[in-house]
Amino acid sequence: MDRFNGENTYLIALKNKNIIGMLALRDKRPFSLEQKMGHIDGYLPRYSKICEVRLLSVKKQFRNSKVIYSLLKKAFEYITLKQYDILVISGILNQQKLYKHIGFRPFGDIVGDENARFQPMYITKNSFRLQSFFTEKEKISLLPGPVEISREVRKAFSERPLSHRSNEFKEVFYETKRQLCSLVKARNVEIFTGSGTMANDVASIEIGKLNKRGIILSNGEFGDRLIEHGYKNNLDFTPYCIPWGQSFDWSDICGVMEKEQLFWIYLVYSETSTGMVNDYKKLLSSACKNDLKICLDAISAVGNIEVDFSGVYLASCVSGKGLEAFCGLGMVFYNHEIKEPDIKIPRSLDLYQYIHSQGIPYTLSWNLLFALYTSLGNLKERNKIKRVNELYSYIKQQLAHIGLTPFDGGKNVNPAVLTIPMMKPYSSQEMGQYLRENGYLVSYESSYLSERNWVQICLMGDIKKENLDGLVNAIKFFL
Ligand SMILES: Cc1ncc(COP(=O)(O)O)c(C=O)c1O
Repeated sequence: MDRFNGENTYLIALKNKNIIGMLALRDKRPFSLEQKMGHIDGYLPRYSKICEVRLLSVKKQFRNSKVIYSLLKKAFEYITLKQYDILVISGILNQQKLYKHIGFRPFGDIVGDENARFQPMYITKNSFRLQSFFTEKEKISLLPGPVEISREVRKAFSERPLSHRSNEFKEVFYETKRQLCSLVKARNVEIFTGSGTMANDVASIEIGKLNKRGIILSNGEFGDRLIEHGYKNNLDFTPYCIPWGQSFDWSDICGVMEKEQLFWIYLVYSETSTGMVNDYKKLLSSACKNDLKICLDAISAVGNIEVDFSGVYLASCVSGKGLEAFCGLGMVFYNHEIKEPDIKIPRSLDLYQYIHSQGIPYTLSWNLLFALYTSLGNLKERNKIKRVNELYSYIKQQLAHIGLTPFDGGKNVNPAVLTIPMMKPYSSQEMGQYLRENGYLVSYESSYLSERNWVQICLMGDIKKENLDGLVNAIKFFL
């Protein structure tokens, strides 16, 4: 029983009728704090009515959730009603960051003994920040981009920029290309400023130089976009679409290709919209003609799953997904010899221009490049692909405990993309917003997700197991 029980007003947080958090408010002087440090008014701004918050506690498994936030929010509703204009608290020392973020200010010396040490703090009615405990910067990104980026890579990005014509730049540039090619087992790569869409435009234009008819596959949003790339870049092709999330029937595709005498195939290797991996390698061992040119959008694949582009014609990729660097660099891997085009092609979209200028025809950002280079070193050292697989198994198991099953297209799923179909009455929009408020950015805003009531949790970045525990707790609390 608290010694001030008769004078306390308690606010409690309930989940399924169990108490999971509480705080007490009391306005009788002397406060508990004054018994530890003497009179406090000299430290405080002018006020008319004051109250002390005590006994703020939240059950361990809910500490990373909205409970503290909701309790304090309720406390502020209460003190506004009662017309208090300042609150004091003995703030636990290791939670100072949190208190300060809410708007508490420290005053006086630390109080307490070696078992529990507190910083006296106050907050005025006007300085309470209701928004969220987490600033945008503190949130953990479980998005398919921008991904969670390690401290070293962020540090590399913030370096003073170097000219793309300097020797130091070129050294890092060629080493980055070497490491990229070794990662994906391709002969060559060109790197340019741009998004994944731009990389796919560069790839489409390169396919166009074949002057032959091909096929473009789709079983998701990004497959649909490849078909659009095909039309916009005037490729001669047959579109081959199946419903989202279904696996391709490779022998049927080979049949179509043979019948129509098709020379190349273009598909999304890892379809980000569903998390499915399209196992194009079946084409290599199938009855398809062996000089078939296989072209891949490998934007979500590289860095997240084991890839081997030695048998493909070309593949596109970006810096800001599985490679755990900043978005802004696009790349196309290729194994063939690039010839000067006999048609007019925009300079920045023509691979030949890059080869002709030893890879750096135009301005390239040192910061983006150096961050990518630093990240490639980390990925290798930390065995990224093994880590993604472990995280995937772990979170899948945790989600199963709370009744959520990610969509998995048979065995062919990218472990860095968990797609969770939400069932009514739960809305992906509400869950995404709730998780954002609680410090986790998941993917729910793209129209193809919100239309289907899907949420995606992506493990493409520098994610740790502890991050996932907090996330699962927050989801548990939402459901
Ligand atoms: C498989 C795939 N292709 C293409 C894109 C388009 O990339 P961007 O948005 O960088 O243009 C994305 C983006 O998420 C993707 O996942």
